[in-house]
Amino acid sequence: MLEEKIIKYIKEAGDIFSIAFDKSKIVKTKSNSFDLVTETDKKIELFLKQKLSQLIPESQFLSEETDSAFKKSKYVWIIDPIDGTTNFVHKFPFACISVALQVDNELKYGIVYNPILNEFFFASKNQGAYLNESKITVNTETDFSKTLLATGFAYNFNSAKENNIRFFENILPQVHGIRRPGSAALDLAYVAKGVYDGFWEWFLNPWDVCAGILLITEAGGIVSNIEKNEWRFEDKLIIAGSKNIQPILLKTIQNIL
Ligand code: IPD
Ligand code: CA
Ligand code: CA
Repeated sequence: MLEEKIIKYIKEAGDIFSIAFDKSKIVKTKSNSFDLVTETDKKIELFLKQKLSQLIPESQFLSEETDSAFKKSKYVWIIDPIDGTTNFVHKFPFACISVALQVDNELKYGIVYNPILNEFFFASKNQGAYLNESKITVNTETDFSKTLLATGFAYNFNSAKENNIRFFENILPQVHGIRRPGSAALDLAYVAKGVYDGFWEWFLNPWDVCAGILLITEAGGIVSNIEKNEWRFEDKLIIAGSKNIQPILLKTIQNIL
């Protein structure tokens, strides 16, 4: 079955991740001195591309390290081989493999896998969201002042018009707390799991968010852009959260803008 094979290959990719995690890494930089990539990012990506293309030979890939230009196709795999590379480099165990499959422009599968904490998040369109064997749902908190949120800071921090600091500063006193753990894909999975009530971030790419978006919507949450529409690849800002909190977080961010 397709689903079982996808899970098998991502778990095998997780073994590559785990073996490398505690070792010293060969680290290179990309857009600046803190935008990192290791040999394991590339190894996992090439492994997944080879395996997943056997499952659907006509499929295309949109993947961070080797295939970052979108090609139209009925089947598109959207892959971040390691989301949270800085954490991976420093042995901080909050990093994951993120894989989504789009069929006819709709998300069909979303997987976020942190092999270090053995957290395998899986969502299938209209079939719900799971963490390992357990079904997950978003949190039910209604009071914004009692929420835990998460965000992140893009690598264009120094040059972008929006570096997210004023949003962080404005929202922080309004809630229980804001976390910034450094893996957008896992942050979104933690919204689906009901750990965070909401998440926002600027300048994310499809490979950072596609799997997490399906996890959240299948767990009963909401993901949108700043105009309250579905998040699209070209959108600069993503706002995600539970059914109760996402609309409040969206309003809060619109008011800061
Ligand atoms: C990064 C992480 C981080 C987010 C950055 C992303 P990478 O992805 O998701 O949490 O703040 O914007 O680029 O480079 O570790 O795959
Ligand atoms: Ca990423
Ligand atoms: Ca990455």
